[in-house]
Amino acid sequence: MPRLEYDRSMSVGIPEIDEQHREWISLVNYLNDSIHDGRANEALRTTLNETLAYTVQHFMTEERLMRRYKYPYLDVHTKEHAMFIDRVHGYVDAYIKGVPVLAMDVAEFMKKWIWNHTTTTDQGYAKYIADVRMVEMSKKPSS
Ligand SMILES: [Fe+2]
Ligand SMILES: [Fe+2]
Repeated sequence: MPRLEYDRSMSVGIPEIDEQHREWISLVNYLNDSIHDGRANEALRTTLNETLAYTVQHFMTEERLMRRYKYPYLDVHTKEHAMFIDRVHGYVDAYIKGVPVLAMDVAEFMKKWIWNHTTTTDQGYAKYIADVRMVEMSKKPSS
């Protein structure tokens, strides 16, 4: 299973968020690598907990930013975030209840979701915020 590699198509042009995306990817890659090294089960518990906590924090940062800039598609974006959280919660619940959770399924789901979301949905607010900032800059009196 290939790792998820960060690339420019995932960048939203906001350093704080790009850094969070990189960190997020490294959490998923830790799980990915652990599967290869035969440490999937021990990695799964830490990854689920850490990913959940980190994701909540990351989504809050993005949602705060979108609200600040009055991004018109905030609702749709927030719903996508909630779907990811629900899915991870589902894995955590299953794990706690002793229902078998395949580390490979979790890793594949996360890699795919993170890639799709950052290269499409996140790009929507990235473009919008860049445009708003550009307009703001052009209104500033030049010295
Ligand atoms: Fe994001
Ligand atoms: Fe997002």
